[in-house]
Amino acid sequence: MADREPTSPLVVGIGGTIGGISSTERALRIALDGAAKEGFRTRLFGGADMARLPLYDPRATTRTADERAFVDAVREASAIIIASPGYHGSISGVVKNALDLLEETARDERRAYLADMPVGLIATAYGWQATGSTIAALRSIVHALRGWPTPFAAAINTQITKFDDDGGASDPAVVEQLRLIGRQVARFAPLAAANA
Ligand SMILES: Cc1cc2nc3c(=O)[nH]c(=O)nc-3n(C[C@H](O)[C@H](O)[C@H](O)COP(=O)(O)O)c2cc1C
Repeated sequence: MADREPTSPLVVGIGGTIGGISSTERALRIALDGAAKEGFRTRLFGGADMARLPLYDPRATTRTADERAFVDAVREASAIIIASPGYHGSISGVVKNALDLLEETARDERRAYLADMPVGLIATAYGWQATGSTIAALRSIVHALRGWPTPFAAAINTQITKFDDDGGASDPAVVEQLRLIGRQVARFAPLAAANA
């Protein structure tokens, strides 16, 4: 996924679940691929990467290499895509813990949090109800982080849609919706950079 010129803009994907590559992470990969087709470099922080992040301690005086790599990638990014499963009607603790770590950017001079960045959103759940509430939670978090949720967010019911190992899904419309998220963040990112 990172075979572009190092100077091309970067979109960072954050999402997935612990315990192997999940439908949430597969959905995120399709969206990142949509941005890659627009000329973006992509960097994925999936379930295994997020599982290596310690529980966020705002008072810690040192950060692990994994924490630093995550925060540095977000600092370098021109756009973000976040994908969370719906857990009990909201985002998962694993995804939230990664987002909590972005508190480390609060005092950055160049850009605090996700300020002015386009942020694409994806929620999976085993039913429709939690897809909606999880997207609403993600939008609130992105607003708190001063980011710009892109207009379309993908709500994926994993009771109906199944993902495969080859980057596809049982419903072509879902694949197209995920690619649209990649295209939307890619389209808005240069505008955000121009205003920085
Ligand atoms: C702890 C936990 C809580 C869950 N809560 C909900 C829920 O409230 N509503 C729902 O529709 N599905 C719920 N699910 C199901 C997941 O949202 C669903 O299976 C999701 O697609 C998992 O994504 P994955 O394949 O990436 O692991 C829950 C699953 C777990 C493990």
